[in-house]
Amino acid sequence: MQAFIENMPKAELHVHLEGTLEPELSFALARKNNIELGYETPEELIAAYDFYDLPSFLTIYYGAMKVLRDEADFYQLTWNYLSKAYSQNTLYAELFFDPQAHTSRGVEFGVIMHGIRAAQEDAEAKLGIKGQLIMCFLRDMSAESALEHLLMAEPYLAWLVGVGLDSDEKNNPPAKFAEVFKKAREMGLKLTMHCDVNQQNTLLHIGQCLDEIVVDRIDHGVNSLESDALCEAIKTKGLGLTVCPVSNRFVVQSLTSNEIRRMLEKGMLATINSDDPAYFRAYLNENLVELQREGNFTAEEIAILVGNAFRVAWLPDEEKMTYLQKLGAYIQNASIQ
Ligand code: ADE
Ligand code: ZN
Repeated sequence: MQAFIENMPKAELHVHLEGTLEPELSFALARKNNIELGYETPEELIAAYDFYDLPSFLTIYYGAMKVLRDEADFYQLTWNYLSKAYSQNTLYAELFFDPQAHTSRGVEFGVIMHGIRAAQEDAEAKLGIKGQLIMCFLRDMSAESALEHLLMAEPYLAWLVGVGLDSDEKNNPPAKFAEVFKKAREMGLKLTMHCDVNQQNTLLHIGQCLDEIVVDRIDHGVNSLESDALCEAIKTKGLGLTVCPVSNRFVVQSLTSNEIRRMLEKGMLATINSDDPAYFRAYLNENLVELQREGNFTAEEIAILVGNAFRVAWLPDEEKMTYLQKLGAYIQNASIQ
């Protein structure tokens, strides 16, 4: 089963580029950019990863970003993720990035965009892994700042597939960003938002995503299971849910395998993702392998979860079909069947 998962062609729809910053790269960039990290070794840094809720993670996550300064740094971050993902047979990835976490430190918007884009182009040409970019707004910053960044992105529109909303959800509902997301939609961008696990007013927030923002996807969204009406709406609209099992475990002490199975039983389009793999110490394969073990998922169920990621990817139908045919051929040939 492990080999079946590891060799399977996969897609990842919920990974924060800044969350792929491995301790070794942090140290290398800190040395290059003359930045004090406050830890002696990568192991010491990893030992400080003691996350128990969203804010405890975000403090470490934003603090570590100070090593990202120039175009080459963003290139290296993106290249490292895409080559790691490709080594796990991930063929397609939609990548979140948090420009406000960089512009607020004096990094120019264009520096971020050009560094990431060059690595995407190289990874596609040299490896064959395709990446698309989703620009996230930090929900604990103002709607005005989000709008400013959306306008900064206008010259780079062709390099973005959508916008998202992340960071601390407490007191920062989707409705706060209704205008910004409306404008993003008018610009031709797809829309998604984080509804992290067990957040205050989570059902209200999921409802706002559906009715006020009219999102194309929901990131996490596990708590939707508490409302039959929300589940029905998510299913009827065919919205994908990007669930992140190992990330969830830091908050709810389980990989949410029961919840993921219930989503499948209800016909909801759940997908499996890594979120912040450098911090949670698990890329897509580790998420799938651990989830399969916890939930005792069958090969067919794993194939549905992996297939869902291609089904709800923000790609033209023909491209989705090509990936799904590749997955289908793999499953047919796999000895596990
Ligand atoms: N930023 C990076 N990872 C995040 C997550 N899981 N939730 C909210 N914001 C994030
Ligand atoms: Zn996330």
